[in-house]
Amino acid sequence: MDVLHQISTVRKTVGSLKGPIGLVPTMGSLHQGHLALIKQARRDNASVVCTIFVNPTQFGSGEDYSLYPRDTEKDLSLLDSEQVDLVFCPSPEEMYPEGFDSWVNVGALTSRLEGESRPDHFRGVCTIVLKLLNIFQPDRAYFGQKDAQQAMVIERMTRDLNIGTEIVRVPIVRESDGLALSSRNTLLTIEERKAALILSHSLELAVKMYNNGQRHAEDIKQEIGSLIANEPLAIKDYISVADPVTLDEIENADAPVLIALAVRIGKIRLIDNVIIP
Ligand code: PAJ
Repeated sequence: MDVLHQISTVRKTVGSLKGPIGLVPTMGSLHQGHLALIKQARRDNASVVCTIFVNPTQFGSGEDYSLYPRDTEKDLSLLDSEQVDLVFCPSPEEMYPEGFDSWVNVGALTSRLEGESRPDHFRGVCTIVLKLLNIFQPDRAYFGQKDAQQAMVIERMTRDLNIGTEIVRVPIVRESDGLALSSRNTLLTIEERKAALILSHSLELAVKMYNNGQRHAEDIKQEIGSLIANEPLAIKDYISVADPVTLDEIENADAPVLIALAVRIGKIRLIDNVIIP
C-alpha cells in the first residue's frame, strides 16, 4: 500500500493503477462505517484509493477541528488489511497553500438541515471533495448514507459541474445497540455514550409511528422532541421530516421521507437519519 503526502506524487502513482478506480474520502479515525465504504469500493473496482484529511475548511469557528480524533497509524494498518492500493494523507498546507481562494458553493440543498446550523460547512466539504475528485479522477467515489445530506450535495455538485465520477451511496453501519458509527463517538464519556442512543431511539419511534399510520410530520417531530427533551444529557439541534430529494420540509409523509436529526450530547454533536418507507 502506497502512503503518499503530495499531490504531484499521487497524480503520477494513480496513472499506473489498474482501472476502474474507486475513491473513498475520509477524515480518518476509521471505524466499520468507513470500512463498509472501502469494502464496497473493493467489490466494484480494480483499485481502491483512500484519503485521510481532517479538512479545516468544513469546520466552523466554534467547532471541534482541533479536538477531532486523529489516529493515522491505526488507520493505515486498517486500510492495509482492507488491501487499499493507495492512501493520500496531505497536510493542510498541501491542500490549501498560501493564497488559496476558490470555493464550490452548491445552492438550496446546502441551506437546509446541517447547512442551517453550520453555515460554511458544505462549502468546505464540496471544495475538498472536488479537489480530491480532480486529483484522482476516479471512476467511482463512495459516500455514506450516515451523512445523507452530504451525499445529496455531492451528487448535485457532480451532476451540475459535469464531473465524470459516479457517486455511490453506502448504507449506515450501526453498533449492535443501534448507535450509528461515527468518529466522534470516541469522544463520548460512558454516560454520554448511553445518552447518545436517543438518536437511534428517536428514529425507531418515528418508524413505529409511521408504521402505525401516522403521516403528520409535525406530530412525528413533536413526539421525537419530547423523547429528546426527557434525556438530560441531550439537546436537540434539529429534527427534520423532509423530501429525500429536495430536502424541503413536508407536512404529510405520504411519499418516501427522510427523517434526519442532529443532537448535542454534552459537547459532541451527533447526526443520524432514516428514509421511510
Ligand atoms: P468522515 O466523517 O470521515 O466520513 C467519511 C465517509 O464515511 C463519509 O462518506 C461518511 O458518510 C461515511 N460514514 C461515516 N460513518 C458512517 C457509518 N456509520 N455508516 C456508513 N458510512 C459512514 O464525511 C467526511 O468524513 C468528510 O466530510 C469528507 C467527505 C471526507 C470531506 O472532508
